[in-house]
Amino acid sequence: MANYVAAIDQGTTSTRCMVFDHSGAVVAVDQREHEQIFPRAGWVEHDPEEIWRNTRQVCAGALANGDLVASDIAAVGITNQRETTVVWDRRTGRPVYNAIVWQDTRTDRIIEELGRLGGGQERYRERTGLPLATYFSGPKIRWILDNVEGARARAEAGDLLFGNMDTWVLWHLTGGPDGGLHVTDPTNASRTLMMDLESLSWNEEIAGELGVPLSMLPEIRSSSEEYGRISQRGALNGLPIAGILGDQQAATFGQACLSPGEAKNTYGTGNFVLLNTGTDKVMSQNGLLTTVCYKLGERDTVYALEGSIAVTGSLVQWLRDNLGLIGSAPEVERLASTVPDSGGAYFVPAFSGLFAPYWRSDARGAIVGLTRFVNKGHLARAVLEATAFQTREVIDAMNADSGVALKSLKVDGGMVVNELLMQFQADILGVPVIRPKVNETTALGAAYAAGLAVGFWDSEDDIRRNWIQDTQWDPSLAEQTREARYREWKKAVTRTFDWAGG
Ligand code: G3P
Repeated sequence: MANYVAAIDQGTTSTRCMVFDHSGAVVAVDQREHEQIFPRAGWVEHDPEEIWRNTRQVCAGALANGDLVASDIAAVGITNQRETTVVWDRRTGRPVYNAIVWQDTRTDRIIEELGRLGGGQERYRERTGLPLATYFSGPKIRWILDNVEGARARAEAGDLLFGNMDTWVLWHLTGGPDGGLHVTDPTNASRTLMMDLESLSWNEEIAGELGVPLSMLPEIRSSSEEYGRISQRGALNGLPIAGILGDQQAATFGQACLSPGEAKNTYGTGNFVLLNTGTDKVMSQNGLLTTVCYKLGERDTVYALEGSIAVTGSLVQWLRDNLGLIGSAPEVERLASTVPDSGGAYFVPAFSGLFAPYWRSDARGAIVGLTRFVNKGHLARAVLEATAFQTREVIDAMNADSGVALKSLKVDGGMVVNELLMQFQADILGVPVIRPKVNETTALGAAYAAGLAVGFWDSEDDIRRNWIQDTQWDPSLAEQTREARYREWKKAVTRTFDWAGG
């Protein structure tokens, strides 16, 4: 009897396999980190072969940890860091270059050139829902084809394939060079800057402007259907793969944000706030993205407004790895608790430029407001506060775009165990912040997409029923103080502009 569903979560810092039961509870997990490669300032890469090796290992590991066999599993879902770009040879499976990660800013000149064709940053907004920015996959493919010797000719001859991490993993799981499926879903495709948001198909004109041959692009299927079966010899051999969702959309699904007006914020490497807007594509006037939230089989497409923040959890890692101020990520809370506030310091982590709502690739990080008084406790606090302030900025933009003020915020991801941060988040938003019992919403969302496709779950009502509230933080800061602090933050942000040559 197949009592469980598995999800592969290929994230920015690690790859996990998680197994869930019908109530949405985690029954087994395995996880492996992969190397973060920083060849130059602003460049971030991953080794796709390492990620594929890790994927196989965590699938086997999760089954072993849960004392399970493949026949216990009804279906497998895939969720992934979005935008990260791999180009590989369809005959050998060898990548022609490392994966270029979503945080990488090397495409800033390509972005500028495209903007000069007319329309500037808004050039593709109407068709794709996105501003022109280094974040998205299309320009990253262009960079690979322009800079890897022979790549363009091989791509034009039809020898190379492009995929985000969902497609890279799926292609391998389903046979690789021996008939692997070259498929993606609309949540991932909508982040390439090449997908038409209305028809959910590749836009030939944009792909042409980017110089990306259509033969490289995966087929766009829905987010929830049986794409094929796992064919590699290994732990999950023979199981149907039946769900694909980009990680932020998966978290939205796993948080049961299934009706228009419901939103979640995931605190991972970056922060991503997604608001379900139903079947309406709301075009942002305030620096947010319009993106696909999910498409279940043949049913109508559900869209979302998204506020993408590039650096939040990764700032804590930076404090640990680059400055050595803390020995482990959780220590940041202890250090921040040694002081009552940030001592007037503000840390704007514009390491990849600034994403929403600014979209400025010319911004670079800054710590402002320093005096002799400021100590490492204040800096730790400023690091945590940066996450909350950036979240406030995208929520303000969302409220302005939707015309309705958010009444509470559902949260998930690694940093939501940080009580100090969660309380400050509620304080600076002025609305309650709510964490669910199962915090693993990303993997759970992908499991739901797969489980719905094979009938393991009947409908979204099952998902709503499985969502149980755990903790709620209520705002406790006086409005005047809140707004004064936020004004100072906004001022600090302006200090990061016009720094890099963009
Ligand atoms: O768009 C990038 C996003 O998908 C990465 O998410 O959780 O790996 O930081 P995460």
